[in-house]
Amino acid sequence: MSSGTRDPESDGGLRVLAAGDLADGTSAKFLLPCGGRQLECFVVRHEGRLHAFVNECRHVPMTMDWVENQFFTEDGAYLLCPTHGALYVPDTGECVAGPACGKSLFRVPLVERDGEVFALCPDPLP
Ligand code: FES
Repeated sequence: MSSGTRDPESDGGLRVLAAGDLADGTSAKFLLPCGGRQLECFVVRHEGRLHAFVNECRHVPMTMDWVENQFFTEDGAYLLCPTHGALYVPDTGECVAGPACGKSLFRVPLVERDGEVFALCPDPLP
């Protein structure tokens, strides 16, 4: 997990990984300084593309990786909150099953520059 004290919005984002990092179906957590707080976030690669979200279930604001850094269901199709079983679509963060249905994880915008991937603060902040 990486962290920093910079403001990611003012300096173009927090570098979270190289564009080629992270195998499909895996994830990596990072701390993103936003609005005076450190948001725990995670990035996943799903079907070749990277997506990042705040590590907070939309049912109850709890982190979703009971097992450190494990977000995917066993078949790799969804992101799982094991507390009450909410399933989220990895591409969109939309909850499609469980008590958070109809809500979406807070997306963390990613930008790629020169082979590096940077995270920006979600807007609005959770
Ligand atoms: S806290 Fe995530 S499903 Fe209830």
